[in-house]
Formats: sequence, C-alpha cells, structure tokens
Amino acid sequence: MPFPKNFLWGGATAANQFEGGWNEDGKGESVPDHITGGTREMPRHFTRNIEPNTYYPSHMASDFYHHYKEDIALYGELGMKVFRMSINWARIYPTGEDEHPNEKGIAFYHSVFQELHKYHIEPLVTMSHYELPFALSEKYNGWTDRRVIDCFLKYAKTIFTEYKDEVKCWLTFNEINIGAKFYGRLMSLGMRGKGGQIMFDPHETKEEINDRFTALHNQFVASAKAVVLGHSINPDFKIGCMIAGMQVYPYSCNPADAALAQEAMEMTNWFAGDVQVRGAYPFYAQSYFKKHDIHVRMEEGDAEILKKGTVDFYSFSYYQSAVVSTEALKKTNGNMMRGVRNPYLKASAWGWEIDPEGLRIYLHEVYGRYGIPVMIVENGLGTADEKSSDGKIHDDYRIDYLRQHFKAMKQAIEEGVDLMGYTMWGITDLVSASTGEMKKRYGVIYVDRDDEGHGDFHREKKDSFDYYKHVIETNGEDL
Ligand code: BG6
Repeated sequence: MPFPKNFLWGGATAANQFEGGWNEDGKGESVPDHITGGTREMPRHFTRNIEPNTYYPSHMASDFYHHYKEDIALYGELGMKVFRMSINWARIYPTGEDEHPNEKGIAFYHSVFQELHKYHIEPLVTMSHYELPFALSEKYNGWTDRRVIDCFLKYAKTIFTEYKDEVKCWLTFNEINIGAKFYGRLMSLGMRGKGGQIMFDPHETKEEINDRFTALHNQFVASAKAVVLGHSINPDFKIGCMIAGMQVYPYSCNPADAALAQEAMEMTNWFAGDVQVRGAYPFYAQSYFKKHDIHVRMEEGDAEILKKGTVDFYSFSYYQSAVVSTEALKKTNGNMMRGVRNPYLKASAWGWEIDPEGLRIYLHEVYGRYGIPVMIVENGLGTADEKSSDGKIHDDYRIDYLRQHFKAMKQAIEEGVDLMGYTMWGITDLVSASTGEMKKRYGVIYVDRDDEGHGDFHREKKDSFDYYKHVIETNGEDL
C-alpha cells in the first residue's frame, strides 16, 4: 500500500473565505473584510471604509459560521481524517490589541472542534490565513511594525492554551513566502496603502519594498516565537510552516533562463522555507538584498529566535507550475506575476496551468532539501460548475484533476517521500482569494451562493464527493 495507514486525507478552508459572520458576536473587522469582489478581468479593490452598496465577499462567504454542523457532518460522511481551517484572529481579538479575548469567538471554535471530534476528524489550524485584524493594518501599517509581533503572540498564547486539548496540528502563517512578492503586500502583510487601490498593485516605492521585507521578517520572528511558545504549552503540538509551492521551469535551455528559474525558485519558494525549517536566512537571500539594495530592519537576538523556532513539518499549497523567460521579463519591466505560458500544459479556465508531474517534482525537491515530513495542505481545481438537466453537478473534470494529482502523490511516496497528508482546497465551495468570486469553485460540495450575493447557502454533493469518498475509503488504493 503506497499511502501509509495513517495518511491524513482531508479538506481545507480559510475563515475569511468560508466563515462569514464578519461582524457577528463581537468579531472585529479583518483586512479581507475591506476587499471588494472582482473577477479574473476586474481586480478586487481595497477600501479603507466599508462602502455602502459595495459587495465584500468575505462578509458572508459560505456562511460556515451558521452551517458548521451540517458541513462537518458531510466531512464525516466523506471519511475525512483532517480538516484544515483558520481561526479568524479578529474573532478572538477584535482589534488585535484588546485586553481580553472575545468569549463568543473563543466559544465558536470550541464548538467547531468538538463537532469535528464527534466524527473523528482532526483539526489542522492555520493561525493567520491572510486575516490580519484591520485595526492593526490601520494603526501599524500591518506587519511593518514590530509591535504586531507581540499582538500575534498574545493571540497565539490564547488559542494555544484554550484549544490545547482539541488541536494538535498548527500552521503559523498561510503562504508566508507570498510576502516576498509585491502581491503579498496587502493580502499577506496587511500593508494598507492609501485605500481605493487594487488588491495586487505592482507599484512599489523603494521604501515600500524595504518595508515589505521587514514586514516579512517580522512574520518570520513571530512564527519562530510562536513555535517555541506552542511547544512549551503542549509538547505534543506539531507546528508547521506553510509555503505557496510552485515549481518554476526555465522557458529554454538558455543558461540565462535557467538562472532566472533558479532565482525564482530561491526567492519565491526556498527563501521562506529555509528560514522556517533551517532557522536562518539563506546566503542567496542576503545576496539578493545586496543586489537590489534592499534593507531589512532586524534586531539583535532575531537570529537566535529564528534558530530556536524551527518547524516540525513542511506544508505547502500546490496548484500550478510556472515558466520564466528572460526575454518575456524584459518586455514587462520585471513585473511579471505569473511568467509565460507553458506550451506542454493545459490551463484551467482561470489560466492556472495544470501540472501533476510538477507536484511530484516539487515533492522530491522539498523532501530532499529538508528531510522532514511534508504535507500538501492545498490543491484543487477552481472552475465554474454548471448544473446538468438532472439538477446535479457532474464534475468529471475535477475528478480527473484530483486523480492525476493523487497518482503523482502515490508515485512520490513510492519513491520515498515522507508525505503525511493531503487537504484538498475549498472542500466546500468558498470565495476565491485572488478574484473574490464564488464562481471559481473548488469544492466537492456545492454552496448555493453567487457573485451578486444571491443564494440560500444550501449545500449539495457533486460527483467528485463520491469519488473522493472512495479514494479515502480505499486509502488511495483505487484511484
Ligand atoms: C492559495 C490561498 O493561494 O490559493 C487560498 O492560500 C486561495 O487562500 C487558494 O483561495 C486558491 O486561490 P484562489 O485565488 O483561486 O482562491
């Protein structure tokens, strides 16, 4: 049997994209509550005030807040072993600096964890999934200010202590490496800008770039301190990092393209993982900073903290691979977000190139580099689902996507990779982070909600539900 007996099959979500109840029971606003809906063509916008007559998808999202019991019952039926979710920081500390936590927020997650345990499902909790309390973004310009580290640690202490018997597996920051890119500025680091700007604004001043890498550094320090704190509260905790994993290929065998791909792999993938797994800034990051005249504000003692707070396992999201070319880069003044098209791969309707072999390659690279257990905590196909004449969603395209990725995982395990689990992204349909759409659906469970805010939130199983259930039942033997 290639999949180990205790392989953690599951599903993944994030509070701001799934939970809703954005201002209920004392929850404070978080940064995504200020980001409007968009589409693939029309970017989302960040507004400093909540504007009237404007649609903010996170406000109700998929309304897990009021549907968690039926959702978890469906996860039980699916046979899930693990459910990845995030705690919405502003539900616990509404402004991030409150003296006492919000009791109703604390109680909500207790209920969720209890419900999960009823079905023998382990929670895997992301402590911060693009969800900085909005007040911290306003007051401190997000993670650029070191004081946010202490706010995070206070929050960490509360949730570690409160849930220490209910949650064993934690991830500190979702896709922490995104902070190394301009598109992580608002979403990942909570750096607010003036307001009214698009979510992924590529324009950055020199100072903003310094601030961004400083903010990322502050997250590294916060993560390392949280790992140490977590282990002191419950030595059984398993605390992982979470990296946006992307296999980058050179467009041609021109060594210049190979060097560009190497730099992208280093600065996009490995940089953050190296800090969090190995406990120090890698040499190539130092040289990148020198070359680009980037100044990261660090303090004495930070290096020791990073060394001490290394993670127990490496987790990552994987959706697509990327191709980089020196020629194409010249044409876009170095501001490419996605690279160039790969002529060998098909892309989803949202342009994400589907590459299961890239997943196997990435698993090798990661496990070879770190030698610690690895977990895929996001993967899936985001696409529009149409109902057939029988009223059902026959999503054979999603089944096919999953099957191909499961086969790649199976092969990697046979080849010796210590893969501990897989949580499929958006197990129940939820809001897309990049476009704010519900239409870009990932789930094996459909949610009746559209992009204009219509729908009654009822849930329906898609064909992929039965497929995934069978995969879990047979522990991946029958794909
Ligand atoms: C990951 C994020 O980048 O990709 C998720 O951790 C996100 O929050 C997922 O939803 C898929 O991206 P999108 O933009 O299709 O929602």
